[in-house]
Amino acid sequence: MADLSVKYCGVTYQNPLILASATPGWDGNAMLLAAKQGIGGVIPKTIGPEQEWAKHPRNGRFYIYKKKNIPIGQVNLELFTTKTRGDWLDHDLEIAKQGRAVMHISLLAMPEPEQTAALVEEIQSTGLADILELNVSCPMPAKTVGMHIGKSAEKTFAQVKAAKETAKIPLTVKLTPNVASMIEIAQAAKEAGADGITISNSIRAFAGVDIEIGKPYLCAYGGYTGPAIKPIIMRHVSEVAKQVDIPISAVGGVSSYRDVIEYIMLGAVTVQLCTSVMWQGYALISKILSDLNGWMEEKGYTSFEDIRGMALGNITSVEELARLPAKHAVIDAASCIQCGICRRVCFYRAITDLYRVRYDQCDGCGACEQWCPKKAVTLC
Ligand SMILES: Cc1cc2nc3c(=O)[nH]c(=O)nc-3n(C[C@H](O)[C@H](O)[C@H](O)COP(=O)(O)O)c2cc1C
Repeated sequence: MADLSVKYCGVTYQNPLILASATPGWDGNAMLLAAKQGIGGVIPKTIGPEQEWAKHPRNGRFYIYKKKNIPIGQVNLELFTTKTRGDWLDHDLEIAKQGRAVMHISLLAMPEPEQTAALVEEIQSTGLADILELNVSCPMPAKTVGMHIGKSAEKTFAQVKAAKETAKIPLTVKLTPNVASMIEIAQAAKEAGADGITISNSIRAFAGVDIEIGKPYLCAYGGYTGPAIKPIIMRHVSEVAKQVDIPISAVGGVSSYRDVIEYIMLGAVTVQLCTSVMWQGYALISKILSDLNGWMEEKGYTSFEDIRGMALGNITSVEELARLPAKHAVIDAASCIQCGICRRVCFYRAITDLYRVRYDQCDGCGACEQWCPKKAVTLC
């Protein structure tokens, strides 16, 4: 068995997988189901407001976005937990604790930083939390919380500072991807004392229109999650990992061990999952863990430290890109089945009827290599 354990913000997790704050952590028993699959940490649905504006919608709140009937993403209008603060603090966290996964407790940054600090105190006084995750990032329309705080470096700083002044256990902050760059916000979180950051919450999105009736699939803007968002979240994770020295928990589109490894190679310490568990059930967790173990053993890695951030040095700047050596496509005649796909996707008209590459026309884009069903094309 490979050693899958990681240390994140001073807390030891038996493996880097964490159940993200969302529907799969709806109550204590749900968190326990994830723990029974061997997950390293569990995060409940964000604990926070009991105000009128936080009422929970129960009128159809998920839209599964599919292409050719394959789900690629999901828009949700879920908003907050239906459990009261008392439910969580008096019962559900205790139930979840029986699972022995790290208790990483999500709390909402409230409209005023002092209210957030009071919530930190309430949660830590249960003695059931190992680490906290401050949510400044929900993409929902409530005007005083969620990403309305997290897209401002100043507001994020004030919230984290207030929370950290009260917290006696490590505190992480969950950021929003709905910003041009996360670097400034991550830096503000760090300066305010955050021990780590979660990248990230959902992407604000619109589900689409049913053209038969001319009405939207969901009648509000929501959060987009699942495999389709992974490239966007990887962009944020790697940019922050390169520029801000703070431990990162990555979350967005993880459904296999490969996704976990990719995020770790981009600098993440822990990796969270949500939509894939909603689609495939809690058993996916033990499958990913077993695959992770197999991959680590096969590669001979002894810990995730061997690979953390490994890919970052190869991400270059736009300025450097054009200075890299030029390449062109080469087709292996023995493997080519002359299906014509490479010719169709070549907008430089560099591939001839004989399935040869005209090097004077080839622009080295690599589209033919990507599309070839037989791996007969190589970019050299
Ligand atoms: C239905 C649903 C509800 C969510 N609720 C919360 C929440 O209460 N608090 C929070 O911080 N993130 C919430 N999220 C965001 C997830 O924790 C996660 O950041 C996001 O789904 C991206 O990960 P994924 O692609 O693995 O789903 C929710 C996501 C979904 C799909």
